Amino acid sequence: MSDAAAPGTIGGGIGTVGELVAVQDGAAEVAAALRREKKKLELVSEVGTALSSALALEDLLVLLMEKVTQLMEADRSTLYLLSDDGGELWSKVVQGGEVLKIRLRVGEGIAGWVASSGEVVNIADAYEDTRFQPAVDLRSGYRTRSCLTVPMRNSLGATVGVLQVLNKQAPTGDHGPFGADDVELLLALGSQAAVAIENSKLYLSVVAKNVELAHAKAELEQKSHELNVLYEVEKELSAAADLDSLLERILARAAALLGAEAGTIALLTPAGDALELRTVVGPAAERLRHQRLELGQGLLGWAVAHRQGVVSNHAADDPRHASEFARQHGVSPVSLIAAPVISGDSVVGGVEVVDRRGGTGFDDADLKLLVLIAGQIGQAISLGRSRDEHRDQDRLASIGRLMAGVLHDLKTPMTVISGYAQLMAACEDAGQRERYVDSILRQFDIMSGMTREVLQFARGDRELMVRKVYLHRFVEEVVTQLRHAFAGRQIEIEVELGYDGATHFDEQKMVRVLHNLARNAADAMPGSGHFWLRTRLEGDHLILEAADDGPGIPLAVKARLFELFASGTKGGTGLGLAIVKKIVDDHGGTIGCETGPTGTTFTIRIPHRATRTGEFPPIRG
Ligand SMILES: Nc1ncnc2c1ncn2[C@@H]1O[C@H](COP(=O)(O)OP(=O)(O)OP(=O)(O)O)[C@@H](O)[C@H]1O
Ligand SMILES: [Mg+2]
Repeated sequence: MSDAAAPGTIGGGIGTVGELVAVQDGAAEVAAALRREKKKLELVSEVGTALSSALALEDLLVLLMEKVTQLMEADRSTLYLLSDDGGELWSKVVQGGEVLKIRLRVGEGIAGWVASSGEVVNIADAYEDTRFQPAVDLRSGYRTRSCLTVPMRNSLGATVGVLQVLNKQAPTGDHGPFGADDVELLLALGSQAAVAIENSKLYLSVVAKNVELAHAKAELEQKSHELNVLYEVEKELSAAADLDSLLERILARAAALLGAEAGTIALLTPAGDALELRTVVGPAAERLRHQRLELGQGLLGWAVAHRQGVVSNHAADDPRHASEFARQHGVSPVSLIAAPVISGDSVVGGVEVVDRRGGTGFDDADLKLLVLIAGQIGQAISLGRSRDEHRDQDRLASIGRLMAGVLHDLKTPMTVISGYAQLMAACEDAGQRERYVDSILRQFDIMSGMTREVLQFARGDRELMVRKVYLHRFVEEVVTQLRHAFAGRQIEIEVELGYDGATHFDEQKMVRVLHNLARNAADAMPGSGHFWLRTRLEGDHLILEAADDGPGIPLAVKARLFELFASGTKGGTGLGLAIVKKIVDDHGGTIGCETGPTGTTFTIRIPHRATRTGEFPPIRG
């Protein structure tokens, strides 16, 4: 307003034409300013909406920068984020169709300076400022003039990035400087953006965590399924007696677990040139068992040759499929998975399951399971083979022991035979000689019984020949034999039959027991002595006692009396009492020994049955 419009002048309330024009211009300016403010308000509200949306961080930044550019009436704007370690600023913001990827070290350039100082930089011409780096302009051909750079602070006041707007567009269309209002507005937008960015990061990290958790859960489920499978297979491992039944059980379990109709475990032949279908389950099991696949033939052969699992859900279309073999044996698998079986370091065969029930086919998770099961099969095979080897070795060692035992015990019948033979030579009476022949033949029976025992054992069947025995006859026979065995020695044999009725045991073996005890007694009494054979019943046990009045068992021997090779000074092998103990054990009985300087008594107790009502306990190996 001019002085001319002062009150008191005529027409002063209306003013001059010039004044009128000026008022009109002013009104137009106010209207334009109002429109700009309205537009600003709209943009601010759009920024608010964008910031509160759950956009991906990058999209959010692009949108944000578009709005900021419009709002600040700038040519372009850039948002820099501070790296997590706070050492770098990076920006990937698009402006004007360009993707700018800028990396700055904190402290470098104007943005870097703002990031480190936390202060606002508002300059009318960037080229006048030493902090400005014209390199970006040089690269892009852009000409930076005015430049407003503010820190973005989060709710805690910490700088999380930098906002920069370039080249303020003055209403004249020219470039002007940014004003104090612009600074305030950009600072406010920066803080809002900082909070939104942090939220978005947080949101993204929560999403990422959730995805991670979902993966972990799926993995855990898979692992627990695998563990279950292994547990099931392990159970089969411990239940099976020999390798074949072991493989059969594992395969059946694998097929069931994988929902397969059939399956096979094939082992490399000893020559290593083919695979033999050792174990087969499923409808064609009988036809397929023991069939051979050439090495590399079929998907199973392929898996073995390549040491690698394989899945095929359209076997007929797979060139590796053994279609001729399948046709010959009347099978037509559709889906199958196969894996090599590795034992130690070498491939020993392969396992295959075919035809998923429900026709859905197998997937990689199924194959992974089969590979795990193949690992178990490999272990089972090494285990089974070493068990078989051990069993053979054990059996050989046991046969050796048994042979030694039998050879040991053959001494007695041989001595008896030679005794009878000498008697026969001096005997004129034909009837008597006949009886001697009978006695000799009985000794041969005993000897052949012993050899039979070895052969039976070698074949794997070891029966205790438990039969009904009449004790008075049995003892009489044993004593007769002993008298012949000890002929020429000063050993008195005395019998005390507390029980002389029927009982049950392995007669030949019990003869060996008493012979061994008597021989030891005789050996301990080189000059002369007594040997007692006693029988009696105690409850449902039969007691057999062998006693002597010799010098007793040497202390050194006593502690390990029934062990193999526990021999005293007399030069024996130390087998006798070990054999005695084994036979008594096999009868489910016990043997004890009382010894002292006036004599030794061995007491055997075995279960007694006058009539045969049951079996003896199982033989211990
Ligand atoms: N009745 C006994 N009196 C004294 N010592 C005994 C008697 N029976 C066994 N022994 C001692 O126990 C040892 C072990 O007896 P065992 O029959 O096992 O072996 P061995 O008689 O030495 O040899 P083998 O019987 O193999 O020829 C004997 O060497 C002996 O020292
Ligand atoms: Mg002996």
